[in-house]
Amino acid sequence: MTSQWVAMMLLISSVYSGRVLWKMKERAINVQEETVRELLTMNTDTTLRPVEGDIRQPLDHFNRRNTRTFPQRFFINEAYWKHPHGPVFLYIGGEGPLSEFSVLAGHHVTMAKQQGALLVALEHRFYGRSIIPGGLEPQNLQYLSSQQALADLAAFHQHISQKYNLTYRNIWISFGGSYAGALSAWFRGKFPHLVYGAVASSAPVQAKLDFSSYTTVVGRSLMDESVGGSEKCVKAVWEAFAAVEAALLRGEETQVGKDFSCCETPKSLEDQTELLRSLADIFMGTVQYNEEVGLLTIARLCSIMTNQSKAYVEGKEAYDRLVRLAAIYRTMEKETCLEVSYEKSILDLNTTTHVSSGYRQWFYQTCTEFGFYQTCEDATCPFSRMMNLQTEIQLCPLLFSIPQHTLPSNIAFTNLYYGGDQPQTQRVLYVNGDTDPWMALSVVRNGTNKDKHRAILIHSSAHCADMNPTRARDRASLLQARQEIESLVEAWLKNAAQEHMI
Ligand SMILES: *[C@@H]1O[C@H](CO)[C@@H](O)[C@H](O)[C@H]1NC(C)=O
Ligand SMILES: *[C@@H]1O[C@H](CO)[C@@H](O)[C@H](O)[C@H]1NC(C)=O
Ligand SMILES: *[C@@H]1O[C@H](CO)[C@@H](O)[C@H](O)[C@H]1NC(C)=O
Ligand SMILES: *[C@@H]1O[C@H](CO)[C@@H](O)[C@H](O)[C@H]1NC(C)=O
Repeated sequence: MTSQWVAMMLLISSVYSGRVLWKMKERAINVQEETVRELLTMNTDTTLRPVEGDIRQPLDHFNRRNTRTFPQRFFINEAYWKHPHGPVFLYIGGEGPLSEFSVLAGHHVTMAKQQGALLVALEHRFYGRSIIPGGLEPQNLQYLSSQQALADLAAFHQHISQKYNLTYRNIWISFGGSYAGALSAWFRGKFPHLVYGAVASSAPVQAKLDFSSYTTVVGRSLMDESVGGSEKCVKAVWEAFAAVEAALLRGEETQVGKDFSCCETPKSLEDQTELLRSLADIFMGTVQYNEEVGLLTIARLCSIMTNQSKAYVEGKEAYDRLVRLAAIYRTMEKETCLEVSYEKSILDLNTTTHVSSGYRQWFYQTCTEFGFYQTCEDATCPFSRMMNLQTEIQLCPLLFSIPQHTLPSNIAFTNLYYGGDQPQTQRVLYVNGDTDPWMALSVVRNGTNKDKHRAILIHSSAHCADMNPTRARDRASLLQARQEIESLVEAWLKNAAQEHMI
């Protein structure tokens, strides 16, 4: 089923700070969910129907006197399991709702077929349906953390082991992408007695307050000719943002607002920053998902940004091309106008009534654990300097009463607790694409001695691309990476079987 790959994008939720980026992810998920649903309804093979259920989890694993619980959603696919000793492949949910596709499509499903594995997947606490009533209230968000999430996985391991009478002979391997990729690595690191090996795709294991290297890699990828970028392209992007900034500085915000079809005129400095961030998000989202989601690609974006058409007014080309790109983006997203209100943005994030998007929860985790603020604080950033750290971190006190000055120590603790990008893990495979901005916070080099094969860096590949099933148009580097992952997983399972015979 070659078109199965589309399902995978549902699973590889990704970490963002910008609103447009978050929207691009959500739209990608919706489009793909539709496609996969159509594919599955055509599929009459009923053995493929996964089991869905809930497990009662303690709200606080680390305070056994707190007796509150929450229902955590899981999915199981038994179709490929070699009963009774076949391995168990655990798919870990991240910062968004999990669907049945987590056990139906993706490279881990392909590998489950090869290895006769039982497929199980767990939704992350406080996302999707796995949340208590009022879960988004600040006093309840205290139970949202990666540490609690790992403890959930441990309890889920026990639940599945009991349900299927599993023994030490059923070898567990964990999988995840992006934040969930980090969880996959950390689960193996913290619970080596539960999971034998872990694949961590595009996993930002190093927490970082000012993630300015994100925009640095975006600039580098826009320059990368192997994916359709060029130096001319980056230069054009840089000029375009400088032109918009200059226009705003001259007080032409009404015209700028009209040109970019903003929902309201960006009058305040905050709204202007919001506009520039939304425009930058189009580039970031495109680079991050290059050639995977099928919306914009780096090549298309660069052809728009370097268009030599005579139609553009001389001296204003860079600006006009960005206007055109924004229009193309709006058409694709079916948006009538570009949202630039900072106030609205805060209101959205402060809403505690609907859970679906996950944006508020994720923002909470950036304040308490990870940072990851994609700023333009580095000189190599091709966007606007107005996208600074301060505009991001001031939301932590506004939304959650988390003082700004506590952020550095929150993030330092995360790195202390997990080991950052120098983890002493064994049998954790870190997979990254070299055009993906998130690679800057992952493990991209092999270790020494025991850890000689721990990193795969895929040339010209985007965020979590390895997790998708193979497509006809995949690059050779990506195909080879998937084969390497398969070989390593197979080697782990063989090793484990041998260990158990002794
Ligand atoms: C697990 O073992 C129990 C008791 O031996 C048995 O009744 C049950 O059917 C087994 N379950 C599975 C899924 O094999
Ligand atoms: C270049 O711009 C012109 C005028 O806006 C447009 O007609 C043409 O399709 C553009 N070409 C590309 C490759 O975007
Ligand atoms: C967020 O909502 C809470 C509770 O409704 C309110 O007290 C607080 O002032 C709001 N914060 C912002 C920045 O709107
Ligand atoms: C790590 O080592 C393996 C096995 O030798 C190799 O295939 C892989 O390309 C190396 N990874 C990196 C990032 O150098």
